[in-house]
Order: sequence, then C-alpha cells, then structure tokens
Amino acid sequence: MAAKGPGHEPRRPGGGPECAGDVFYGADFAELWQEDPEVARILLDEVERLRGGLQLIASENFTSPAVMAALGSTLTNKYAEGYPGRRYYGGCEVVDRAERLAVDRAKDLFGADHANVQPHSGASANLAAYAALLRPGDTMLAMALSHGGHLTHGSKVNFSGRWFDVVAYGVRRDTETIDYDEVRDLALRHRPKLIVCGATAYPRLIDFAVFRGVADEVGAWLLADVAHTIGLVAGGVVPSPVPHADVVTFTTHKALRGPRGGAILCTEELASRVDRAVFPFTQGGPLMHAIAAKAVAFGEAARPEFRAYAGRVVANARALAGALEEEGMRPVSGGTDTHLALVDLRPLGVTGADAERACARAKITLNRNAIPYDPLPPAVTSGVRLGTPCVTTQGMGVTEMKEIASMVAHAVGDPGAITSVAERVTRLTRSHPAYPRG
Ligand SMILES: Cc1ncc(COP(=O)(O)O)c(C=O)c1O
Repeated sequence: MAAKGPGHEPRRPGGGPECAGDVFYGADFAELWQEDPEVARILLDEVERLRGGLQLIASENFTSPAVMAALGSTLTNKYAEGYPGRRYYGGCEVVDRAERLAVDRAKDLFGADHANVQPHSGASANLAAYAALLRPGDTMLAMALSHGGHLTHGSKVNFSGRWFDVVAYGVRRDTETIDYDEVRDLALRHRPKLIVCGATAYPRLIDFAVFRGVADEVGAWLLADVAHTIGLVAGGVVPSPVPHADVVTFTTHKALRGPRGGAILCTEELASRVDRAVFPFTQGGPLMHAIAAKAVAFGEAARPEFRAYAGRVVANARALAGALEEEGMRPVSGGTDTHLALVDLRPLGVTGADAERACARAKITLNRNAIPYDPLPPAVTSGVRLGTPCVTTQGMGVTEMKEIASMVAHAVGDPGAITSVAERVTRLTRSHPAYPRG
C-alpha cells in the first residue's frame, strides 16, 4: 500500500467528538451536485486531473482533509474587520479564537515576536510589508525576476516596480548563486531603505546573516520573502530567516501544505505598523475560514511527521535534480538544497515552453522558467522548474524520483514517447495516489 503523507490518512467519517457529525455544517458534495452540477463537474474533473497526473509545480501541494474542512466551513460568512478583541463587527467572539490560535501557532512554530495571519496571499503580504516600511518613491534592493526573484520584488509590471525605485541584484554567472558582493556594492551605492531577500526560482539556501550584515551597514530594513521555503523552515530542514529579518512574508499553500493564503512575521517593534498596513491600509475583512485553515496547517506543521515530510521533500528534490542531470539536463547551480530544481534544457536543444507542452501531454505538470542569463524571452525560456512537495505528499521517495526524471527526459526528448510516458505516469500515480480514496 502506498505511504501517505501526514494528514492524508483516510479517516472514519464522524471521527471527531460524538456530536460533531450532527452539529458541523460543512462541505457537502451531494448538495453541490444537485444544485449546480456544472460547478460540481469542474471539482470532480480537477480531482481526476490531480490523481491522474504528476504535479511537479514547485509552489503547489495537496492540503489535508482537515484544512479542507476548515476552508469549507461557515467561518467564510463572518465579517471581522480588525483584530481579535478589536473588531469593527459584532459576533466575532468565536472567530477571534481561530485567529488567536493561528497567530499563537505561527509565533511558536517560527519563533517570531509577532504574526499577522490575515494576508490573503503572498502578494498581499508583500504589499502590506512594503506599506509598513516604505513610502512611494523609496528605494528597495531585491532579486531580479529574471534571476529567480518574484514579480512583487520590483517587476515593472507589478505595483512594486511602479511605486518604488527598485535596484536589482542577481546571481553570479559562474556559480549561479546569489552574488553577495554585488548585493553589498549595490546597497552601498544606492542606500536602499529596504533590502528584500527570498525568491521564487532559486534552488539554493539564502544566507540571511549576510543580508542582515549588509542591511545593517546601510541602515536598511531587511525583508525575507520565504513564500517558497517556509514549509522547509517549519520542518527545520533549512535555516530560518526569523532571527535575521525585520519582516518575514510567506505563503501558506506551498511546501507548508496549508490553505491558499499569506502571513507576515515581524519584530515586536514593527508589530503595529505591520498590522495597520494589512488592515485597514491594504485589505478589508479577513477570510476567517482561511485563517482557521491556517491554524490547522500550522498545527500540522508542528508535528514530527511534518519534520520528516520536509526532510523527504528536500531529499527527493536532490534525487530528482541528480537524476535529471544523468538524463542530460543541467541543474542550475549544480543541484538543490530545497524543494525545487531549476533545469537548463539547452544541452537537449529544447525550450522551456516546448518541454512544458510535451510534459503536459504526458500528464506531467511543470512550468517553463527562465534560467539566469537566459537568452530566450520569458514566454519561451531555456528552462523548467520542478518541485517535490506534491509527489512527496503522495508518499513517493528517491526511487520514484529517478523514474520521474526518466519520464520527463523521454517526454521532452522524444515526441514519439508521449503515450508510453503517459502510461508510466498512470502506473506511478496508481501506486501513489493523490487524495487516496477510502
Ligand atoms: C517568493 C514569492 N513571493 C510571493 C509570491 C506570491 O504569492 P501569491 O501567489 O500567494 O500571491 C510567490 C508566489 O509564487 C513567491 O514565490
């Protein structure tokens, strides 16, 4: 029988307190099916898509039934502008408990002075963090999108690039790792008010202590956006930015395996600035069902099983990067320390867009991604990004990573092999199903 990730073991229906089945009102698929079969069909098709293929998008995961139950609850109805004990609406005494629990669990899990769990997403968390620390026109230093940074780190097509004066650092050509000398030189030259570290397509560890040193040298705030790696931080398998950064932003739905959403950790000094920046400055009413689900996810992430899961995510990513290299693809920076591999496809003479399409036809979902100094435009790219959070939740290990690398190589390198690769994918996902039945 396939091993299943923590939180994904089939549970006896009504397995909570004796009364739970009678008093809980939550997701009832039969009712949806009856009332709106068109939407119900979409939900079923998506489950089939998840079960029938391999999900290698590095920013996705399969959240647990407990998280789903919180998301599909009546907490979605409640207006609760403000913070626990200080709301602008009545009737918040119950949802206050959910938010206090989520905040306390986040603080404990990450050892932070203060947590704000209201951001609707990672982008909203960054918007609020910038609002807490900057004024329009201020200078910030962040990683270039083309080298692995995120859109909200100063891209011209995003508010961050429009409203701030952004200076970008990148990775070295030879090592493809962050050029800390360049970071320091740019900081000394431009005197940014904020330095952002953290990335969306960077396979290596980030040296938060070095960033702290540079920030101190120029009197800048340090923001660590660990949207991608926060689950690995929670599992204790990569270093935490919390002791170094003034503000830490993250998403709850990637390796952390919680509901779609964001959160902010910060020092006591910045607590009220951050809270006011989230509400009322950048958001309205919080999503209380999502906040309850974040509390569930933080609780799950504090368990030893999650620590083991996070370790397997990294071990699997390493094995996958190594196996892809043996198949003729070049892992950027020579490998990975995290949950993702960024792969240069130029040795195979294939573009990222072609590889993404070929893999999709073979039921392997991954995304094209620019590699550092990519000669091709962002819509085409020379690389793909592959992550292991989903397949690890499905109970796959190092042996399966080798099989996945071989399947990706065949799909990418041989159009005639698509059908046979799709059959191999079916066999693998049957033995390691996503959201197993029963
Ligand atoms: C580093 C980083 N920051 C922020 C975000 C934005 O998160 P969201 O899509 O939840 O807005 C992402 C999403 O991929 C990310 O990778």
